[in-house]
Amino acid sequence: MRKPLIAGNWKMNTDSGSAAELAYGIAARADEFTSAELLVCPPSPYLALVRDAIGDAAVGLGAQNMYHEPSGAFTGEVSAAMLADIGAQYVILGHSERRHVFGESDEEVNKKTFAAYAANLRPIVCVGELLAEREAGKTAEVIRRQFEGSLASISEQQIRSTVIAYEPVWAIGTGKVATVEQAEEVHADLRKQLAACYNTSVAQTVRILYGGSVKPDNAAQLLGQANIDGALIGGASLKPDDFLAIAAAGVATVQA
Ligand code: PGA
Repeated sequence: MRKPLIAGNWKMNTDSGSAAELAYGIAARADEFTSAELLVCPPSPYLALVRDAIGDAAVGLGAQNMYHEPSGAFTGEVSAAMLADIGAQYVILGHSERRHVFGESDEEVNKKTFAAYAANLRPIVCVGELLAEREAGKTAEVIRRQFEGSLASISEQQIRSTVIAYEPVWAIGTGKVATVEQAEEVHADLRKQLAACYNTSVAQTVRILYGGSVKPDNAAQLLGQANIDGALIGGASLKPDDFLAIAAAGVATVQA
């Protein structure tokens, strides 16, 4: 049984006060959700204060991006080792906003993925098609290409510590959620790809999250799908009650 991962991607939101408040709000109730794994990914400048606000509560800490080089003259960038050093356990890589706003390629995501492993960070590698690609019937092809490119040459041991997130670009921040059938179809394909590239045990172990307008009112249906192992949540992760309501839907799937 894969433990559901409920991950909040705060994006470029909050300030020091509201980031701490959000973290306290989630941490205060975290012990009600231990059958799921909770994770928050605040903006980099607030990672340390969120880590402190979480304290001993069972809430993981993740970053939203990093650079693949270990150190050096890369003004403005942050390395995997720096993130690990301040207590991050996860890093989101290849989010659609990184790919489409900042032009990140699968090759760059792949380099970052290796850098994350080298620093003992667990990558959450995102894939997802554009609306035009879905409408052209190219979803499966796009997801396959992103999977192959972003996860090229990754060993079995490394893939076991990796999380994959399927986020259809047209569903992110738009209020348009993929239907459970659309989401489950891609998740099932990704799991088949894991089995083909590695083996069935890997396919059964690696968690595949869904992201894109996940809210308390659609979480139960999405998380109830056989191949959806958690959620990567943007907008709804900025309110403790909404985030934890989605976590409750994740816990319910374990108890079902
Ligand atoms: P959203 O964002 O929940 O606001 O659609 C999801 C994401 O981009 O990770």
